[in-house]
Amino acid sequence: MEQPEGFVFTPENLEWAQAVIKKYPEGRQASAVISLLWRAQEQNGGWVSEPALRYIAEMLDMAYIRVYEVVTFYTMFNLQPVGRYYLQVCGTTPCMLSGAQDLTEACRKHIGPKDTVSDDGMFSWTEVECLGACVNAPMVQINKYYYEDLTPESLGDIIERLRKGEDVPPGPQDGRQGCAPKSGPNTLIDAAIYGSDDSGPEPGYAGTSDPKSKMPGPY
Ligand code: FES
Repeated sequence: MEQPEGFVFTPENLEWAQAVIKKYPEGRQASAVISLLWRAQEQNGGWVSEPALRYIAEMLDMAYIRVYEVVTFYTMFNLQPVGRYYLQVCGTTPCMLSGAQDLTEACRKHIGPKDTVSDDGMFSWTEVECLGACVNAPMVQINKYYYEDLTPESLGDIIERLRKGEDVPPGPQDGRQGCAPKSGPNTLIDAAIYGSDDSGPEPGYAGTSDPKSKMPGPY
């Protein structure tokens, strides 16, 4: 893998890195390694170069091999360039049973082979383990955002819209609200459990964005 000549943090990132390092007691600066690697990856367009590893090792007074051990342990770090849009397709059991394999085919069709950057530099994709959004399987992470309840068609559409420069809202792509049941509310629907005024919850309470909803919840 061809590497750039060098790496230094931008002045803003350097200032940020020094503040992070100061959070740890003298002699424990190495604790900042993941934070600094993550910032270096962001600055470098989604991957950590070899000069960046050495730069961080020196900054934290760590052996280079220790930084290399960390960066190769966590799959959130990339050691080769990625596309401007980097897709991580979850292939663990719930997503696999819900059609993840068809999503990888859609990636092959709309982007190209796994772990290679498309000719226009816009996309690359890989397969990952569970991303913790199994209730909305199958799903894909694109840069920092989750796109859920996908089909090969909806994923292909997302890729083509991103290619055209459109904003594509993340979240469920089938009209579902968050991770609410697809069939609508089916638990806690007995009005009697909400108090003595027997008015019950207002309509559309479960996971809706109804501003009148009195139910606690993510929305
Ligand atoms: S299995 Fe895909 S998000 Fe958990």
